[in-house]
Amino acid sequence: MYHSFKRLCDRWRYEPLQSHSGQDPSRWQRWSRSWVGTGLAVAFGIAAVFVIARAILYRRPYNPLDDYQELNQFPVTADNAAHHHRRAVVSSLYSDGYAIAVAVVGHSARSANVTARLLLPYLGNKVSDKALCIVRTIGWEPYPVPRIPPPDGGKGIFWRFVDQYTKLNVWTLDKMGIDSAVYLDADTLVRRNFDELFDIPFNFAAVPDVYTGGFSLSFNAGVLAYRPSSTVFEDMLQKLEVAEYPLAEAEQAFLNLYFGGTCMRLPYIYNANLAIKGRSPVLWQRLADEMRIVHYTLVKPFLQDMRSTDTVLSPEDIEDAMEKAARIEDGFYREEMGWWREAYRRMMLDHGHAISQCRQSS
Ligand SMILES: *[C@@H]1O[C@H](CO)[C@@H](O)[C@H](O)[C@H]1NC(C)=O
Repeated sequence: MYHSFKRLCDRWRYEPLQSHSGQDPSRWQRWSRSWVGTGLAVAFGIAAVFVIARAILYRRPYNPLDDYQELNQFPVTADNAAHHHRRAVVSSLYSDGYAIAVAVVGHSARSANVTARLLLPYLGNKVSDKALCIVRTIGWEPYPVPRIPPPDGGKGIFWRFVDQYTKLNVWTLDKMGIDSAVYLDADTLVRRNFDELFDIPFNFAAVPDVYTGGFSLSFNAGVLAYRPSSTVFEDMLQKLEVAEYPLAEAEQAFLNLYFGGTCMRLPYIYNANLAIKGRSPVLWQRLADEMRIVHYTLVKPFLQDMRSTDTVLSPEDIEDAMEKAARIEDGFYREEMGWWREAYRRMMLDHGHAISQCRQSS
């Protein structure tokens, strides 16, 4: 072993030409030189392996709390009580493919007797009159908002999230007379009343995130309870330019940096992420009866294809999407897909006629 290693070293060693005057180095000199060279090489090798192994083993993954930057200097607690008529449920509509899903969210909130206006920011150039007509039948009040482009020209962002910074517009609802708001992503479903969220005495609250890989300290941005403030909105837009965070996860990563240190963490029943079921079916079962808001993160019963979301799905396409979703992973989420199907059917019973008129007229 040593000899083959030495031969390897010898091959790299500079061999001086025989000098005319000089004598051949003695056997002893050659032997000792080779030992010093080998020793140094081995020492460097061990040191390099050690440094690299240490860097790999102790590499810290990015974490908005460990890597905290002081961006948000607003108070943590909310100092005003929100009046009943100054509350809003807010969602967002950036493409026609989500119109039915948003309608179901709104109808499910109304069915749970959530006492708030239903305000819906939408992107004017991406959403058709047909989609707006459908969400209005449920009671949503759509209003156009400017697109907020991702920072750094959208570098590194996940393709599905390129419009997601537009979500920050919901902080300007104070200009529409709203004191307290609950934001719900289009892929959520209200199962029970959550009026208590409008009264929490903090400026920002959200539910810790769950991935197929595990439970996280960061929050999921699909459900937010917050106090709208145009001042905070302007501040966020400015901080977007200086904040350092992984750009792939878009507005959720930014919000975690901005609010992560001052956020009130809510129980999982307010954002019951399907990923919980995969991680801990026991916990999912424990929460099932008390779930206020379910979040269809992994499987979406209202989409046939995540990549084509620019048309309002026909009733047949929606049936097909629900069927497919119920079969995913050998039907592991069949029950949860059933909850969404029930909510969809109830909506169609109440508003199906008006919705089909929207489909025909526009
Ligand atoms: C909502 O309110 C109506 C009328 O007061 C009531 O009949 C119904 O049971 C309520 N629904 C829920 C889910 O609380």
